[in-house]
Amino acid sequence: MLPELSSLLSRFDPITGDIAGAKIVQRRLGDLRGCFADAAAFEATLARKNPLLYSVAAIEPGSGAGDLHYGVGRLMPGRIGNEYFLTKGHLHSWREAAEIYIGLTGEGMMLLEDEVSGDSRMVPLTANQVVYVPGRTAHRTVNTGTVPLTYIGIYPARAGHDYGAIAEKNFRCVIVEVNGAPALVERRNVVS
Ligand code: PA5
Ligand code: MN
Repeated sequence: MLPELSSLLSRFDPITGDIAGAKIVQRRLGDLRGCFADAAAFEATLARKNPLLYSVAAIEPGSGAGDLHYGVGRLMPGRIGNEYFLTKGHLHSWREAAEIYIGLTGEGMMLLEDEVSGDSRMVPLTANQVVYVPGRTAHRTVNTGTVPLTYIGIYPARAGHDYGAIAEKNFRCVIVEVNGAPALVERRNVVS
């Protein structure tokens, strides 16, 4: 028997990121201590304000082996020093789990890092673009534009979010503005 229509169909707003019946996670600047390369700029900003950086509205229809979960993310524009506002970033607890990101509005990048080699890539994420995030790849979203960046992420229900591994060693690279455009640079080369 098929589930109720409400479990089969969701309507989302690509501008606000809202989906009826979703589980909402919101993260403010203060939740991202340790993520930005310029720690002094981070603390100086946080001392003045603690804005909402992003929210994720997730739909979790089932938790079986073959089920999928999905969520709409909405990341605000802005920078700490030269580094664009970003999501915390994570690996999947089930390391093999891949994910599909679909850009909805705004302009951004995904920062991808292979867990084993540390190989890093900056991949554009804007409307009409689909980014495939392979398994064993740490991923973070970055808003490089001037309006909120919204996107959908679709992943296996059993993927799980592992924030610990990234919090410990951090992403090797950061995405910063250089001459008005996003550039991928090694974190150790960013003066803090
Ligand atoms: O599941 C995903 O990969 C996304 O929906 C993210 O959760 C979202 O982009 C927010 O990032 P993070 O979970 O790293 O805070
Ligand atoms: Mn993910």
